[in-house]
Amino acid sequence: MKITLIGTGYVGLVSGACFSELGFNVSCVDIDQSKVDKIKKGIMPIYEKDLDTLVIKNMKAGRLTCTTSLKEGMDQSDVVMIAVGTPCRKSDGHADLTYVYEAAKQIAQNINRYTVVVTKSTVPVGTAQEIVDIIQKERPELTLGKNFDVASNPEFLREGSAIADFMEPNRIVIGTTSEKAEDMLKALYKPLTDKGYALYATAVKTSEMIKYAANAFLAVKISFINQIADLCESVGADVEDVARGIGSDNRIGFPFLKAGPGYGGSCFPKDTRALVQTAEINNQDLSIVRAAAQSNEQRKVQLANRIIKYVQKKKLSNPFKLAVLGVTFKAGTDDIRDASSLVIIPELLKAGIEVTVYDPLYFKGSGREHLAKELKGVTWAASAEDAIANTNGLCILTEWAEFSEIKLSEIKNRMSKNPLLADFRNLYNSTLASDFDYLSLGRSDVLGT
Ligand SMILES: NC(=O)c1ccc[n+]([C@@H]2O[C@H](COP(=O)([O-])OP(=O)(O)OC[C@H]3O[C@@H](n4cnc5c(N)ncnc54)[C@H](O)[C@@H]3O)[C@@H](O)[C@H]2O)c1
Repeated sequence: MKITLIGTGYVGLVSGACFSELGFNVSCVDIDQSKVDKIKKGIMPIYEKDLDTLVIKNMKAGRLTCTTSLKEGMDQSDVVMIAVGTPCRKSDGHADLTYVYEAAKQIAQNINRYTVVVTKSTVPVGTAQEIVDIIQKERPELTLGKNFDVASNPEFLREGSAIADFMEPNRIVIGTTSEKAEDMLKALYKPLTDKGYALYATAVKTSEMIKYAANAFLAVKISFINQIADLCESVGADVEDVARGIGSDNRIGFPFLKAGPGYGGSCFPKDTRALVQTAEINNQDLSIVRAAAQSNEQRKVQLANRIIKYVQKKKLSNPFKLAVLGVTFKAGTDDIRDASSLVIIPELLKAGIEVTVYDPLYFKGSGREHLAKELKGVTWAASAEDAIANTNGLCILTEWAEFSEIKLSEIKNRMSKNPLLADFRNLYNSTLASDFDYLSLGRSDVLGT
């Protein structure tokens, strides 16, 4: 069976590389010539651990190719997966399906054998049917069920552990309208289901909904613990212990119970907005998800304000110099889309604070190109030590392991007297940070309560 992946971003390239590793012939197609050129040379357009090794290995074995030509990519293909972006539409928060619709049109033009068209992109309920309509409008002679089927196969990989998530999934979800399409998708995932990984086959609309419901649930969990953290500060409780106390209940579970600077990234912010929008269109009020999204937006500004308030109290004659460690939306990725840093840092700059940034991925892959493009007005440093030197404070925004290994007792000598440590990932505690004005989240014994 041959597979074509449309879009070579985090989902398309990882899925393409993994399917080829499972033994399938895969063609990855992207409209971005520079991405395709890079991949062909073994240079990854994104940072994802071990992706380069997997891509190079399978390209050498002849199972994985990359092209800008969909005609070439779809030649002899049985399954075509759409893995293009579905960003947030600025006007109303709904998913912007421009790239999906365009891909559907291009697919229609190139169908020349029975093809299962699959949405791997996160798309609102009803999109598969829209793709059927687009294909039939473009090529009225094509018959659904005979020449093509449209299926849903949402992707649940997490950036930073994408390959492991794909190869060892919690579950695989497929939504189909025909037995033939279902059998083909089951065959595609057979190498994984043979190992015991679960596959749920369901209706297309249900499959589309599962992805949004999963992301919305996790977003709610994050906003919940962040609000509990704020309350802990007010009442003198400790959110870390609260998370332990509730997470050990297996109806709740530990993941996503870590207080932090709000969720970001390419999925949760846009997917929660899109789901709320879908609910509104259908006269339903997803008030829980709406509140989680609102609270998440407010959190970023609130945390910036905590630093600003601290700085204002200091009444320094010179601008306050702050080192910010980590700007991507989480550790392990170079993805900065909707990251908290994109709200917090501009707020700090507006308040006159001088910001020096260090991010481990600035110097890796295409990090420098796109991180610098997103964050203006800051100075970039080559290491955490360089960023911290001669500053009045330090703010940790992402949870890279190297940030928890910083020797606070050593770095304090390179900073001004009584420096600030705004630890927005709770990597330290007030004992370890005793030489600092320590600001952390959801604990009662630190500044900011
Ligand atoms: N990033 C994640 O962690 C993740 C996880 C699960 C699901 N998703 C979903 O998967 C989808 C893709 O996300 P991503 O982060 O991989 O996006 P991305 O922006 O990294 O990549 C999308 C790629 O599609 C290409 N593209 C756009 N139109 C095209 C066309 N007509 N033909 C060929 N290529 C085209 C773009 O050039 C780009 O390289 C989104 O719907 C997202 O919500 C993302």
